[in-house]
Amino acid sequence: MFLTDLIAFFEMRPTIESKPNALPVPRPIQEGFEFRNVSFYYPGASRLVLKGLNFHLRPGERVALIGENGEGKTTIVKLMTRLYDPVEGQILLDGVGLREYDLEDLYREIGVIFQDYMRYEMTARENIAVGRIEQIHNLELLRRWWFRHINVSGSEC
Ligand SMILES: Nc1ncnc2c1ncn2[C@@H]1O[C@H](COP(=O)(O)OP(=O)(O)OP(=O)(O)O)[C@@H](O)[C@H]1O
Ligand SMILES: [Mg+2]
Repeated sequence: MFLTDLIAFFEMRPTIESKPNALPVPRPIQEGFEFRNVSFYYPGASRLVLKGLNFHLRPGERVALIGENGEGKTTIVKLMTRLYDPVEGQILLDGVGLREYDLEDLYREIGVIFQDYMRYEMTARENIAVGRIEQIHNLELLRRWWFRHINVSGSEC
């Protein structure tokens, strides 16, 4: 019975893709993300989840979004990561529309831990490398990521 779901899943094609000659994502990011008058509803739904949203998130800034269940906090993250595109308005990264950037490159630069996350039986090394799996053998780089992001001392990958 579930095999048909699996086959349907494999046959799905992404609706969001990179433009030809898309730009590389800026490294490092200078100005950050800017939402300009962003409105959004999910495909097939009629209710607006976000309406005319404006904010600027700068590099190094830490922001906590507080709101009731279903108010659209996770949806903002899904739009920043281009899992969906806004229905209206624009999302800019360093002053350039997010749709102008290469999608793979954007995904490579952003890490998200969603609230309904999965924990996999993997080593610390694999967990760190999972976002850029081609670097799994680059222990020097993995160590740097470990110390920068996890901030514990004396651990080995
Ligand atoms: N894939 C989807 N398709 C249709 N509607 C969706 C989808 N995902 C979320 N929604 C709806 O969009 C609205 C915003 O959801 P979202 O997950 O962004 O809220 P949230 O603020 O993160 O909530 P919570 O505090 O529960 O995490 C909700 O009404 C939700 O039911
Ligand atoms: Mg949420």
